[in-house]
Amino acid sequence: MKVIVSKDYESLSKKAAVLVQSQLMWKPDSVLGLATGSTPVGLYQELIKLYQQGDIDFSEITSFNLDEYLGLPMDDQQSYYSFMRENLFDHINIREDHIHIPNGMAEDFKSECLNYESSISSHGGIDLQILGIGHNGHIGFNEPNVEFEAKTHIVSLDEETIEANKRFFDSIEDVPKKAISMGIKTIMKSKKIILMASGEGKADIISQLVKDDIKPDLPASVLHLHENVIILIDEAAASKL
Ligand code: PGA
Repeated sequence: MKVIVSKDYESLSKKAAVLVQSQLMWKPDSVLGLATGSTPVGLYQELIKLYQQGDIDFSEITSFNLDEYLGLPMDDQQSYYSFMRENLFDHINIREDHIHIPNGMAEDFKSECLNYESSISSHGGIDLQILGIGHNGHIGFNEPNVEFEAKTHIVSLDEETIEANKRFFDSIEDVPKKAISMGIKTIMKSKKIILMASGEGKADIISQLVKDDIKPDLPASVLHLHENVIILIDEAAASKL
């Protein structure tokens, strides 16, 4: 686990964008694992800038998002599909049929999970996975005490996650209580992983992640077992290291 500390959120986002850019130089048809939440927004803005300058090309990439809320139609303003369109996809040249986000409105969630997992495999697996981290140590929506062997599955969100995500909704009652998420095993199969965190609010969990052992109540700690992980944080998130 390599820890890289950047001065602030802007430089953290720029560094992450350089890593994505170089991944696409090595392999233009890379499979990218993408995340939602506030943290990757700066990265996505940097990628859009690079695209507008002609310095990156997304025409051959395939993307798989980590998760989606259950019960929100794709066109709902709060769905992760809408988030990705607004923050990245509408501004770059990714092919529509190369975008994959779990379907939170699927009729049969078991099949949806199995199909998502096999679609990732049939594309050769994820080359580079972007992750944020929750205050409770979740990655994707893999909440504390998730099974490390879990593949894409249906999850119940922790109270802490619902509380953290209410900022995107009119009221806490509107936050979906369940989601479909890549599992820890799915994430661990990615060839490279970048976990990003910014701000003092993440300092505690980053300190636990870097210093503590692997334990199920800190799902991100499983990343210690992965051979190619960069923890990309700003000085505020690194303040308790
Ligand atoms: P955030 O969420 O980027 O909005 O802090 C991270 C996460 O919950 O994974």
